[in-house]
Amino acid sequence: MQSSKFSIDKVRAQFPALNFKNKQQVFPIYFDGPGGTQMVQGCIDRMLEYIETGMANLHGTFSTSIKTDALLEEAKEAVGDLLNCPAEEVAFGQNMTSLAFQVSHSLRPLLKKGDEILVTQLDHRANVDPWIHLAKETGATVKWIPVDKERLVLDLSNLDALINEKTKVVGIGLSSNLTGTVSDAKRIFKAAKMVNAITIADAVHAVPHFLVDKQELGSDILFCSAYKFFGPHLGIAAIKKDLFEQLEIPKLKPAPNEIPYKLETGTQNHEAIAGLCGAIGFIEDLGSGENRRERLKSGMEAIEAHEEKLMNSLQTFLKSIPEIKLYRAPEDITKTPTFAFRTNGIHSREATKFFAEKFNLCIADGHFYASTMAEVFPVMETGGWIRIGFAPYNTLEEIEIFKKALKELLQRKT
Ligand SMILES: Cc1ncc(COP(=O)(O)O)c(C=O)c1O
Repeated sequence: MQSSKFSIDKVRAQFPALNFKNKQQVFPIYFDGPGGTQMVQGCIDRMLEYIETGMANLHGTFSTSIKTDALLEEAKEAVGDLLNCPAEEVAFGQNMTSLAFQVSHSLRPLLKKGDEILVTQLDHRANVDPWIHLAKETGATVKWIPVDKERLVLDLSNLDALINEKTKVVGIGLSSNLTGTVSDAKRIFKAAKMVNAITIADAVHAVPHFLVDKQELGSDILFCSAYKFFGPHLGIAAIKKDLFEQLEIPKLKPAPNEIPYKLETGTQNHEAIAGLCGAIGFIEDLGSGENRRERLKSGMEAIEAHEEKLMNSLQTFLKSIPEIKLYRAPEDITKTPTFAFRTNGIHSREATKFFAEKFNLCIADGHFYASTMAEVFPVMETGGWIRIGFAPYNTLEEIEIFKKALKELLQRKT
């Protein structure tokens, strides 16, 4: 249900970067949401407010320290509502990748030689390599859920064999930062729980596009990154209490032993944590409801409804151009507004350079660290994929400019 509060003009007015012209005095068109969204004013305000009203380290008797303690708790409560998990399970870190490596180290004592770890071909390597590293350290074996090359979804036909009594860790991306495919993580985690495996969700590309429910998913560990949803560069981990308590995380002796603080090694980025509250507040303010979770749900629905319009427009266009090869799952599969495609005969870097220089279109190219996919589809010789990914501040008018740019690029070649 579209919230009546969603007004594209009001949304755009909250993103100062949209009004910052380049050297040629052209407004940028940000189509690299999956690489990182622009920062919302509410986030910037909270960061500035924290800095301008006095910063401090934790656990002091003086006012700015007391304020900082309260800020961290406020942010964890907000993340708890965003992900549907208790605030005490939420920890912050540098980024998702660093947190995943930290967690992978601390899972070591729970695995032994002969155990199995399951990862996927579709995922960003941040949800693959930490678990491969864990396998190397423990003698466990890595198994892969393959991608169905035709449908661009995970091929779950062999799931019963892939998840068995030896399976100890299962890492699944909720949605692909390359193709936008939303995977059936709930089904996979259910099978993993039947054999008591630890379930790990990479929600980095999911949180900006739909409401994630950690409890309903059945994930023990979930990661996301605030810079993908209008916030600062900050990693977030949510780890189920009983598992979190078991984890032996490398830490300094005087640092807290309690969850979630034991994962937060060193001093955190307090100003970014303040900004995160503003970013979550932006989603919440787009919605309505009795409590924050309800407002976040309806805010996300408003975002989804807007992004669906953008998605339909671009998809119809890309499918109509014979020189374009679109890597997109079929109609019956839920997808985020993230498109991967290639142009016949044009190197992807040449294309994005043209879009950037001539139209100030911010469009990325490459494998985006979903690099296993670039082995399955050997595309890197011609620059990998071109990726367009939307955020709530994008418009149909911006897509029209891209259509013009692409047509011009293709004409240049004929
Ligand atoms: C799906 C996905 N997972 C993980 C990551 C890694 O996140 P971070 O940059 O916070 O380490 C990214 C970053 O692009 C991503 O898109």
